[in-house]
Amino acid sequence: MGSPYGKVVLVTGASSGIGRSIAELLKAKGYRVYGTSRKPENESRNAVVGGSGFIRMLLMDVCSEESVKNAISQILEAEGTIDIVVNNAGMGIAGSVEDTSPEEVYRQINTNFFGAHRVIRQVAPIMRKNRNGLIVNISSVAAQFPIPFQSMYCASKTAIEAMSEALRTELKPFGVKVSMIEPGDIKTGFTDSRVFTADSGENSVYRDNFKKSVGVMIKDETNGPDPIVVAKQLYRIIGKRNPPIRVIIGLQYKVFVFLKRLLPDRLVSFVISKMY
Ligand SMILES: NC(=O)c1ccc[n+]([C@@H]2O[C@H](COP(=O)([O-])OP(=O)(O)OC[C@H]3O[C@@H](n4cnc5c(N)ncnc54)[C@H](OP(=O)(O)O)[C@@H]3O)[C@@H](O)[C@H]2O)c1
Repeated sequence: MGSPYGKVVLVTGASSGIGRSIAELLKAKGYRVYGTSRKPENESRNAVVGGSGFIRMLLMDVCSEESVKNAISQILEAEGTIDIVVNNAGMGIAGSVEDTSPEEVYRQINTNFFGAHRVIRQVAPIMRKNRNGLIVNISSVAAQFPIPFQSMYCASKTAIEAMSEALRTELKPFGVKVSMIEPGDIKTGFTDSRVFTADSGENSVYRDNFKKSVGVMIKDETNGPDPIVVAKQLYRIIGKRNPPIRVIIGLQYKVFVFLKRLLPDRLVSFVISKMY
């Protein structure tokens, strides 16, 4: 299946999990994939560039404007354009609201939200000029269901959702499309990379509930499906001239989101508190 947008794809955070799976699937489908990582050792995973499908890993820290610009200029040098961008790089910080310092909040929002914004600001002019292009932002069902002790992660994804919906309308007259994927729990490196806030240790008044909630999150993530389920959905989206605003991954999450629209907020909040 061809894409109406073109073959040159940027996937941020392609060294692991969902991003890696997306990069590998698109490579297999003949796309020219530029994946990113903050770690120089991942550059050695560069495929031989040539022929049709490949993955070329580039250094990018989405928290640095300079690093984002550098990676994007390397793609432009090699390809002259970028057709599809998947804003996937992200991480999670866990801790109660009270146990999370402003610096920790900033770290979370800087990676997951400002990071995507930095990339979008560099690629939107290219796509506008081409009057074609697709930006897919990897959000989370956590944007629809803020869960305890992951408040800042959920906030970062809610922010992505608001930006994506507004951006979709802004870029529409230029022929550039914006879509989101909301995965539920997926088995990736996300669980091991989770950062616990400094104040969520033994002295926290939230300690018992925090431990219980984090235990549920870890269990759900490690029992989650392989990230290929997200990659396959992404592949479907890039084949569509009119991509959906958002796609939820996982039948149970689709049902939860549907029910959330019907049920009173109080009941939804009660169910979440029982689950976590
Ligand atoms: N796993 C889940 O259950 C789940 C559910 C919903 C949404 N998501 C979202 O899916 C996305 C991918 O997560 P994952 O589950 O695949 O986790 P993962 O396996 O830990 O992968 C995270 C990727 O993001 C990159 N990254 C992290 N911080 C970065 C930064 N500052 N600059 C550039 N790259 C950075 C990492 O690359 P390096 O470390 O090599 O730089 C890595 O490639 C995230 O946005 C996450 O919020 C995950």
